[in-house]
Amino acid sequence: MVIPAAGQGTRFLPATKSMPKEMLPVLDRPVIQYVVEEAIASGADDITIITGRGKRAVEDHFDHNPDLGPANDLPALKDLERLVEGATLHFVRQRAPRGLADAIGCAARHVGNEPFGVLLGDTINLCDPPLLRQLREHQERLGGDASVIAVETVPPEKVSDYGIVTGPEVSPGVVAVEDLVEKPSPGEVESRLGITGAYYLTPGIFSAIRDTAPGRNGEVQLTDALHRLMGTERIYAVTFRGTRYDIGDRFLWLRTNIEFALKSPDLGPRLRLWLREVMR
Ligand code: G1P
Repeated sequence: MVIPAAGQGTRFLPATKSMPKEMLPVLDRPVIQYVVEEAIASGADDITIITGRGKRAVEDHFDHNPDLGPANDLPALKDLERLVEGATLHFVRQRAPRGLADAIGCAARHVGNEPFGVLLGDTINLCDPPLLRQLREHQERLGGDASVIAVETVPPEKVSDYGIVTGPEVSPGVVAVEDLVEKPSPGEVESRLGITGAYYLTPGIFSAIRDTAPGRNGEVQLTDALHRLMGTERIYAVTFRGTRYDIGDRFLWLRTNIEFALKSPDLGPRLRLWLREVMR
């Protein structure tokens, strides 16, 4: 499976000026760790993370750090070591920020000729069963030769922030995709089915990516490559069971931290008391 983590994080400057956005913490873990945990929980044992300039901290995070000495025995680091032992991590650098599809294209040689999952490096999905497993099961049920993308209904004012898919619902929660538009202008599409950033793709996506010209922002967009792939292969969009936490801007990041803290046995009670005090 592939985790693109090469985006620049411009919505979170200056925090992301010299630090990858994937390293922003949610409580005590960087977002990328949640994503790797989720991938492994889905059954992935070979994970390719696409990085780029300024993203060294992402690689370092998963390495043993001898400078920490005895602190390496703390439970938080032991958990991380155990996690990393559950899969082989590979890092491939995207040579320039040319867009999400270009980043995924960097994994082509590694992935080979099998369907593969994609999770974005800056989005946490809390799903049961884990999201990639849900997508893989859909993919297998739909014949094993189609691509499956996760979607959710987004509010009308947010349509322009997402890739939007259109098509008929062929079974509960499964849409046969007939059109995809990356970040449509207001009024351009009627659908509100937004691509959430989790995909189970056929290897056909790699040639589609190679044949896709740069689109929005001058970047090679995955939505455009999927549009091209639709010419030769079936694509389905599925709604999933679970919650998605995008941490891409200040409000979303803060909300994710507060939600996770409220659920934490250690922080929740203290935070609740304090919130009651400050909200009075
Ligand atoms: C990317 C995709 C978009 C998708 C979104 C989900 O956009 O290009 O289709 O809806 O992720 O977060 P980005 O948010 O990186 O601009």
